[in-house]
Amino acid sequence: MADILEVEVGNAKAVSSPKTAEERFGQLPMPSLEYTEEVARETAPLYELVRHHIPEIEWPVHAPYVYAINKLKKQRNAVILAHNYQTPEIYHCVADIKGDSLQLAAEAGIVDEEIIIQCGVHFMAETSKLLNPEKTVLIPDSKAGCSLAESITGADIRLLREAHPGVPIITYVNTSAEVKAESDICCTSSNAVHVVESMGTDTVFLIPDEYLAQNIAKQTKVKILTWKGHCEVHERFTPEELLAYKAADPGLQIIGHPECPPEVVDVCDYSGSTAGMIEYARGQKPGARVMLVTECSMAANIEAEVKGVEFIKPCNLCPHMKRITLPKILDSLVYMREEVLVDPVLAKRAKRAVERMVNLKSN
Ligand code: 13P
Ligand code: SF4
Repeated sequence: MADILEVEVGNAKAVSSPKTAEERFGQLPMPSLEYTEEVARETAPLYELVRHHIPEIEWPVHAPYVYAINKLKKQRNAVILAHNYQTPEIYHCVADIKGDSLQLAAEAGIVDEEIIIQCGVHFMAETSKLLNPEKTVLIPDSKAGCSLAESITGADIRLLREAHPGVPIITYVNTSAEVKAESDICCTSSNAVHVVESMGTDTVFLIPDEYLAQNIAKQTKVKILTWKGHCEVHERFTPEELLAYKAADPGLQIIGHPECPPEVVDVCDYSGSTAGMIEYARGQKPGARVMLVTECSMAANIEAEVKGVEFIKPCNLCPHMKRITLPKILDSLVYMREEVLVDPVLAKRAKRAVERMVNLKSN
């Protein structure tokens, strides 16, 4: 972790700014981005995993980045954590660990490498830093936000607590560290029911995603109070569009993320986290047709892994996830940017809420 230096200035103590990641690790020379014979040969097996998505004529543009990133990753002793919504060339060609938000959080806490490059959105990088504060955590674009994380602040949570004393506050991991610090425990879409029921109360807050809360409320007797946050990607799906697909193809399996409005989840055959959706798709027999009601890269990523299943994709793009690109990942490795830091006092409290969730899994 960055050292904070205390310096005596006259009688007062001044806190000098900590060294940046670039100062601690130094820059590396930018590698050549030529599509050489060696690059073509070394990246050929990786191209097979994205062939369905990237035309052959475009591979010489991506391949030099893939080759350079995979080399520099070793040189820097870095590990790349990628969310399931990352583009196929990131997900299949440079990521070391892939998963939903719960899986990435659990893995972030135990990685050995010195540097974590988080390919996902900012709250995911903050969560990695909370769980493994000794590591240097970089995000290739710090503007990769999330409409849910932006919908609520720590001050909002303090007001809720004042107004509803004794009601546990469960926050979705799609929140800032400041919000996590005010929470009793975190949850993700894959463990929300478990977390709600683990609180041992009749009523809980599950915030800030109103739709996730409404979808979870249908699966438990615990009364759930919520907030007006929405995922700008999943709120756009409508039951009418899904029903039109189903009318045209009654055998179609529809699987949707629980950040979708409840009336959308109601017409789905399965709803779960991104990892849950992948598992469901893997369980389908060859010849099945599956519609994925979620972010666009999910279907592109699963297609390479689940053979014989046809995927129908009425998807919406997450503009925040799409800020992460191969050129920006390479810049992260070369220039050691953009470092994700969390105030240590805040981090201690936020970590408690995340760890409580991660540890609950094995209880
Ligand atoms: P998962 O935890 O299901 O991966 O969801 C994260 C997310 O941001 C979905 O929009
Ligand atoms: Fe946030 Fe929605 Fe994007 Fe997930 S898909 S990161 S919830 S805006």
